[in-house]
Amino acid sequence: MSRIHVLSATDRPKSNALKVSEYATSILSEYAETKLFSLCDFPLEDVVGGKYGKTPDSVKKYNKDYLEADGFLFIIPEYNGGFPGILKLFYDYLPFPESFSKMPVSLIGEAAGAFGALRAVEQFEQLLKYRKAYIFPERMFIQRVNDQFDEEEGLSSERLQNSLEKQLCEFPDFVEKLK
Ligand SMILES: Cc1cc2nc3c(=O)[nH]c(=O)nc-3n(C[C@H](O)[C@H](O)[C@H](O)COP(=O)(O)O)c2cc1C
Repeated sequence: MSRIHVLSATDRPKSNALKVSEYATSILSEYAETKLFSLCDFPLEDVVGGKYGKTPDSVKKYNKDYLEADGFLFIIPEYNGGFPGILKLFYDYLPFPESFSKMPVSLIGEAAGAFGALRAVEQFEQLLKYRKAYIFPERMFIQRVNDQFDEEEGLSSERLQNSLEKQLCEFPDFVEKLK
């Protein structure tokens, strides 16, 4: 079984990103070995002042645990028309250039608004392409997340729920093929 690490890409307490990540991890764990990471646990206080090139041990440990996977799933909320700042900070402290190079990555966006974090996901995809990741073509954008998503039941629309399950069920095959 492939190891897939799921990242809730914000440090906002009680975020929908974390709830969606928990839900997605529970489905994904039927098809892969999974582990959920949250940027709530990223040691932000240790990088204050700009520790670039002198990555603190706490960040090295967070990164090492996170990178020990065959594939990655990001759950990304939209903040001000983009992805959360902490996601970029996390990304900038990952080992360069090897992190994500030729690694499979799947993306899910979620937002309160009507675009379901399409902008945030596509902006982040540019960064992933720069780091030579292989992006899984099926993507999901959960719009009006507060109305459309329930932590126990998933998405209120059957069509969208099917799309979500399809993405989560097929991503592990994509990961296997690239191993
Ligand atoms: C700083 C900030 C900026 C936000 N900007 C947007 C936005 O540009 N578009 C949008 O649809 N929702 C925006 N929202 C609402 C989030 O999409 C909403 O909180 C949703 O639940 C996803 O964020 P969460 O995972 O932190 O809960 C913003 C929320 C925050 C905290």
